[in-house]
Parts: sequence; structure tokens; C-alpha cells
Amino acid sequence: MSNIGHDIHKAAALLKEGRLVAFPTETVYGLGGNALSDDAVADIYEAKGRPDFNPLIVHVRSLEEANLYIEWGEQALALARHFWPGPLTMVLPRKPDCKLSLLVSAGLDTVAIRMPAHPLAQALLHEAQLPVAAPSANRSGRISPTEASHVHEELGDRIAMILDGGPCSVGIESTVVDMTGPVPVILRPGSVTEEQLSEIICHPALVAGSPIKWMEMPQQVRHDRIKSPGMLASHYAPSHPMRLHAVDVKSDEALLAFGAPVPMGTLMVENLSPHGDLREAAANLFRMLRRLDATQARTIAVMPIPEEGLGIAINDRLRRAAATNKE
Ligand code: TXA
Ligand code: MG
Repeated sequence: MSNIGHDIHKAAALLKEGRLVAFPTETVYGLGGNALSDDAVADIYEAKGRPDFNPLIVHVRSLEEANLYIEWGEQALALARHFWPGPLTMVLPRKPDCKLSLLVSAGLDTVAIRMPAHPLAQALLHEAQLPVAAPSANRSGRISPTEASHVHEELGDRIAMILDGGPCSVGIESTVVDMTGPVPVILRPGSVTEEQLSEIICHPALVAGSPIKWMEMPQQVRHDRIKSPGMLASHYAPSHPMRLHAVDVKSDEALLAFGAPVPMGTLMVENLSPHGDLREAAANLFRMLRRLDATQARTIAVMPIPEEGLGIAINDRLRRAAATNKE
């Protein structure tokens, strides 16, 4: 008898402990971690060696579970009812009390959410009773794995377990549709086609490339999205100006610190990692920035972060945040 039941049980237990588990979906293998845990999500970014915090897809076991985290629109609900479980990911607004790690959204106010159809993925999600954040289980810049052995080659030494479900049936990643604007926008074409989508909803606009590069969207779509306040899925940008590479701090500034010693001069301080641990810093980044942004400070001063490993991703986000609010 195959001991797949035992494997699922073990994989679910590891997820609950905050460890990373690769698992099969019908599209590609995912590199899964507990989507409620900043630490587990930071570990995913680190294991992939991602150069930036590209947001992650959250996998859920049911429509009801998705309900806990995102705001449905009428069209999104229609798509979910028709295509879930299956290879369709929808980008939707986070609920105000959404418990998902802010890191899965990479600081956006949206979540990409999906209910996979693969029986092992479903069994794992049911057993773990958790939402599971999972990008494709490849190292950054490589193609997505469609067999357990691919995952083993790329990430075998970095993750707790690979749940082997044989080759993936779909083999290309899910279709990603942004449902947060006035026009549904296909951010990533996949096995659910434009034609299939438009049988259920009004005709979606197609955009190739990363959603982060939204400037590459067709002019009209960009225009519509900017016109609709609150609809633009921009990067998280603090409302306070930011001062990077700060080695001192003024009394009317808030300080985002890293490591020790921390310059004295203000009471508004959050330390990303007193021990200088970049993984911990990544896990804390968005939460701490938000906290400092909620203070009365004039500026957020940010101590230097080493430009290595996860520090590259952290600095990338800090630079973007600092650049945005200078405009
Ligand atoms: O088939 C799949 O989708 C696989 C399996 C494992 O589910 N996952 C996958 O994940 O391909 P990943 O991380 O390789 O690609 C996710 C895509 C990225 O292009 C990312 O930018 C986009 O979804 N995405 C995730 N969250 C988003 C958000 N909140 N807003 C816009 N795009 C988002
Ligand atoms: Mg990928």
C-alpha cells in the first residue's frame, strides 16, 4: 500500500510547525508555507532566492476559507463558482481584518488567491487547516517544476519535505486575473483562457508580464485604474517621507532600525532585527513600516541594511517606498 496518507499527515504537521513543504498542484509544484506566519513566508522568499518581494499566491481549501481573507466582488464570485477548484488565481482586496501575513501581499493591499484542484493539494490543505502561501517551487529565475525531482534538484537542501504527486497535469502556472479594478485584467495568461473567462464575466483585458510592472499595462487600463481611487494596486508606500541609510536620528523622526547599536534621539523606534538577522528583518518589514507610518513623525529614518541575501529584497522595497513618496 502506498503511504501517501502518512506523507500528507507529515506534510501538514510540518506546515503547522512553520516549515516549508513542496507540494503538487495541477499546474506546477508549489513551495508552501503557512500564509498566516511572517516567518514562514519570509523563509519562502529566502529559499527561492527571490531578488524582490514578488507577492505570493495563497492556496485555500474552499470558497468559505477565502471569505475570511478577501472581499469578493460579484464577478470574482462568479469566476470562483465556475473555475474553482482549478488553475485560476484571482487578485482581490484584503479584508481589513485579514490575518494573512502582509508579506504574502508584498505590501500591496491585495491577495492573489487560488483553490487548487489536485487531490494531494486538497488533502494537504484540509489536513493542515491553514491557508498556504506558495510560489512555484523553483529557484528565482528558473522555470517552474512539474515533477518532484525538479523540486529536489532546485530546493531539496532548503525545504523540510517534498510531497510527491507525480507529474503535474497542467504543467503551466495558473491564470492570474486582477479583479480589483473596473476591468478584470489578466496579469498572467494560463490554462484558463481569455475566452473561457469572458463566457462568465465581461471581457477581460490581457496584460503580459508582471503585475508589478503595471506601467506596461495598456494605456486605457492604466487610465481606468488611476481614475478609480483605491483601485490602484500600488506598492505599499508610507505617507511619511523616508530617509534611507540614516546613521543618526532627530527627535521628530521615527526610526526603522536594524541591528545594534541603535542611534538615540527619538522614542519612535522599531528594530527590524536587533541581532542583524535579515530573514527576521524581512518578516518584520511591512508591519514595522506601517506602525512607524502611523506615528506623528515628520520622516521615517531607516538605518542601512546590508545589500546581500534577503537584504537585497528589503533594500529594493525600501528604495521603492522612498522613491514613491518623493513624487
Ligand atoms: O500555478 C500557479 O499559480 C503556481 C502554483 C504553485 O499555484 N504558483 C505560481 O506562483 O506560479 P508564482 O509566485 O511563481 O507566481 C505568482 C504570480 C506572480 O506573477 C505574482 O507577481 C502574481 O502572481 N501575484 C501574486 N500576488 C499578487 C498580488 N497581490 N497582486 C498582483 N499579482 C500578484
Ligand atoms: Mg514562478
